[in-house]
Amino acid sequence: MDIKQELVEMLNQALRLEYRARIQYLSHAESIKGQNAEKIIERLKEIAADELEHEKKFRELIGGYLGGEPVMTMEPAEAAGELKDILAVNLKQEKEAIDLYKKIYRKALDSREQLQYEFEVIEHELRHVIMDEEEHVSELSLIMGK
Ligand SMILES: [Fe+2]
Ligand SMILES: [Fe+2]
Repeated sequence: MDIKQELVEMLNQALRLEYRARIQYLSHAESIKGQNAEKIIERLKEIAADELEHEKKFRELIGGYLGGEPVMTMEPAEAAGELKDILAVNLKQEKEAIDLYKKIYRKALDSREQLQYEFEVIEHELRHVIMDEEEHVSELSLIMGK
């Protein structure tokens, strides 16, 4: 398969994960109650805003740089009731996202020659998204007390 087409498919899976993450954070935020709820809700909404930025970046890479079509479907979301479940589900999914994005990142690095007019942008954007997700892992871990 053509490398650009391959990256489009991988980035479309990344985009599905971003849609899920944003919707899930916003939805989960509404069921948080109790002590410190306000602070945690605010933080989850800020993370959701980061995911929105990631969606934009991925859509631009797919459409603007790789000649593909961004998906409009999301990965199925997971329900979670209690705060500890909410944190655990999202932490697990953040790590899954990082694993996938690093795979895409390595694929781009390996294909540097074939991405003559796209490589730097793809490399830059992916690296920054990965850095944000690593920050999310750290923040969720902090709230969990880990
Ligand atoms: Fe994200
Ligand atoms: Fe994230």
